[in-house]
Amino acid sequence: MKMRRFLGVFLLCLAISTTLSVSDRRCGSDVTRLWLDVVIIVDNCSIMNLNLVYETISGLFNKNLQIGTGYTDPRSTRVGFITYNYNATDVADFYKLQSWADLDSQIQRLKMTPLARTTLSKMDTALYAAINMINSTAGFRDNYKKMVIVFTSVHGSYQKNPPKDVSKILKARGIPVVTVNTGSSSDTQSYLKNIASDNMAYAMADGNATQEILKAMTDTNCFCQSQWAQYQYPLYAPQNRYGTCLISTNDMVSDRETARHFCHQHFQNGYLVNELDQQKRAYNFAYLNSISASPVNAFYNGLVTLNGVWFWDQPDGRPMLPLDPNSGAAPQRSACVADMKYSDGTTAWTPVSCTNKFRFICEKVACDTDNYCENA
Ligand SMILES: *[C@@H]1O[C@H](CO)[C@@H](O)[C@H](O)[C@H]1NC(C)=O
Ligand SMILES: *[C@@H]1O[C@H](CO)[C@@H](O)[C@H](O)[C@H]1NC(C)=O
Ligand SMILES: *[C@@H]1O[C@H](CO)[C@@H](O)[C@H](O)[C@H]1NC(C)=O
Ligand SMILES: *[C@@H]1O[C@H](CO)[C@@H](O)[C@H](O)[C@H]1NC(C)=O
Repeated sequence: MKMRRFLGVFLLCLAISTTLSVSDRRCGSDVTRLWLDVVIIVDNCSIMNLNLVYETISGLFNKNLQIGTGYTDPRSTRVGFITYNYNATDVADFYKLQSWADLDSQIQRLKMTPLARTTLSKMDTALYAAINMINSTAGFRDNYKKMVIVFTSVHGSYQKNPPKDVSKILKARGIPVVTVNTGSSSDTQSYLKNIASDNMAYAMADGNATQEILKAMTDTNCFCQSQWAQYQYPLYAPQNRYGTCLISTNDMVSDRETARHFCHQHFQNGYLVNELDQQKRAYNFAYLNSISASPVNAFYNGLVTLNGVWFWDQPDGRPMLPLDPNSGAAPQRSACVADMKYSDGTTAWTPVSCTNKFRFICEKVACDTDNYCENA
């Protein structure tokens, strides 16, 4: 009886999993393979709430994470520390901590250091110090994303410029700024919200700060090289980005085979774009139209047929991906299909002659914890 019920549940799970929709890969999130340069800033004025700060910081760095540089696998993370009150102190620059043990003992030392006597807390001094720390490493590890994480419980003052204006300099350079309110003041929380990047103002008091910061770190580590667009939905929704990158050469049209060859020859590990679900199709149209001077109503995707079976194009050396019925039904008798948008706004995979010339999109996997990229 029990066994039969178990089997029933098992079969039900199977049934559910086969009807699950397919979609593009999510960003890699292996916390042992982050490759980042992180500046950690900790307020140490006398009224700072340090509760759980160093436990949270410890929790960010998995014991198997390579700290520092010089490893065979280039996926390693450098960590710098700055403390501040009315002035900022560089506790550790990007060159100091060269192993997980170094990092751990630095954290323990900071934990033992008493707070400063002053109540003054001027975050702009620390953000400027972070900019200098990042600048001083320019030319080395430029392909590694930088990020800044600030811990404070205090709505402080400033020395030269409001902290939100200094953080803008970082954000404009593509460097995310995470803030963590270590106290319970809602005034501090709204002050920090203006300093942090979108959706990166966290609080110790709600949720799991370690988990939130780690998510921000793996998200930051997931990016596309210059000229490539990162698949996200809707078109400008960095909070919902996927681990694939797209590119389309301006106004270039070609027949299907030339398009496919172009993606493989011009881009390392490139292939013709996949369209695993309706959302990706909507994105592909939106992306092409966002970069084109005139409306694009047709383009080639990577759907190809071999002996009557449909597959998605994949990088050289990788087997092609069979078309999942949940992605859509391919036409019965045609060698080539193109994405078409009709006058009523609907879109469909439409049989076309393979010699028709259309726009096309190339795709490749994003740089993330699973895929190291030599160039930024
Ligand atoms: C703050 O620190 C900088 C650099 O360490 C130093 O030049 C400056 O004099 C300090 N300012 C104050 C007010 O202590
Ligand atoms: C706090 O700040 C003072 C002055 O900047 C510094 O000497 C001290 O080491 C700092 N303490 C901690 C815990 O960071
Ligand atoms: C840091 O580097 C950026 C980009 O190279 C530059 O624009 C900026 O002026 C530098 N800032 C400082 C304080 O050196
Ligand atoms: C917070 O998240 C981290 C990382 O996922 C986890 O190790 C830790 O146990 C969580 N803490 C709590 C209190 O849930």
